[in-house]
Amino acid sequence: MSDNIFEKVSTLLNEINLSNPGTDEDLETFRIRFLGTKNIIKPLFAEMKNVPNEQKKEFGLKLNQLKQAAEAKYSSCQSALNSGTTTSKGTSIDLSVPPGPLNIGARHPVSLVLNHMIDVFSRIGFTVAEDREIEDDWHNFTAMNTPEHHPARDMQDTFYLEGSDSMLLRTHTSSVQARVMTTQKPPIRIIAPGRVFRNETISARSHCQFHQVEGLFVDKGVSFADMKQTLLYFAREMYGAKTDIRLRPSYFPFTEPSAEMDVWLGTETDITRRLTKGTGWLEVLGCGMVDPNVLENCGIDSEVYSGYAFGIGIERSAMQKYDISDIRLLFENDNRFLGQFTSAF
Ligand code: DAH
Repeated sequence: MSDNIFEKVSTLLNEINLSNPGTDEDLETFRIRFLGTKNIIKPLFAEMKNVPNEQKKEFGLKLNQLKQAAEAKYSSCQSALNSGTTTSKGTSIDLSVPPGPLNIGARHPVSLVLNHMIDVFSRIGFTVAEDREIEDDWHNFTAMNTPEHHPARDMQDTFYLEGSDSMLLRTHTSSVQARVMTTQKPPIRIIAPGRVFRNETISARSHCQFHQVEGLFVDKGVSFADMKQTLLYFAREMYGAKTDIRLRPSYFPFTEPSAEMDVWLGTETDITRRLTKGTGWLEVLGCGMVDPNVLENCGIDSEVYSGYAFGIGIERSAMQKYDISDIRLLFENDNRFLGQFTSAF
């Protein structure tokens, strides 16, 4: 007789352990069966009188164990149900449930323009070189032939790191030229996209952070004509096959001679007149032949090698492309603005 009762207890314990109520309904059925006022465990306590004295203690323990197992199972299934990780089948995740509609993000206009530029230059053999945004004085200025007294070193333009007069947030991607030339041997043909920082008053037209794409080509016998043809190719890929360019003499410490490149947008529409201030020409980049001092600073023999370099501002191209009137919109992370841009060109 007592064997029978012991067997019944272990059958019930098994049942509790194996059960997995995965819906509110199943859980309620479980509760009524094992924990309700007329639960199945209760009458077993009354069986105690039929159990031989020497087994009474063990039987009591078993009954308590049964009760505790039922309570534990109930509360774990209840919290699983509440947290929504259980399904009608009682498995932890139902992979067959169709997903809700996916919200697909949009690329940032700066990324769209940047990716397009990378694509254009990759096609003619330029590889992407990326480097640090926190730079030292030497790579950002000295190596780039910018003497100590140059206004670009003025504290007003440059963010120096607190407590340091040599570590700074790079003011241009030209620092990557120094990083690459000190670690690689010519021929070098890279573009360096990235974020740069200047201590400027934030307005509709300027920001304290923006993006540039730097270009550098160093080899034997590289000429100004090579640079001009490369930049013409770039302009035509970006602005259309018939685009004209002009190079205006300019000054940069790290190039000699230096130039600024404009592209012809014309004066036919309001937009192009506004962008070009009525001239029809839009300034898009600075460029020039790498100054021999820069090559020497980086350990490259300027008697053997020559090169050209250029730096393009991304925000201005993006603003022109998408007719964005205020640069601050590009840094505010407002999804209503950012969701509008789907493809670059
Ligand atoms: N670093 C310059 C700037 O931030 C842009 C530039 C001009 C880069 C001429 C160049 C270059 O490589 O040759 O204004």
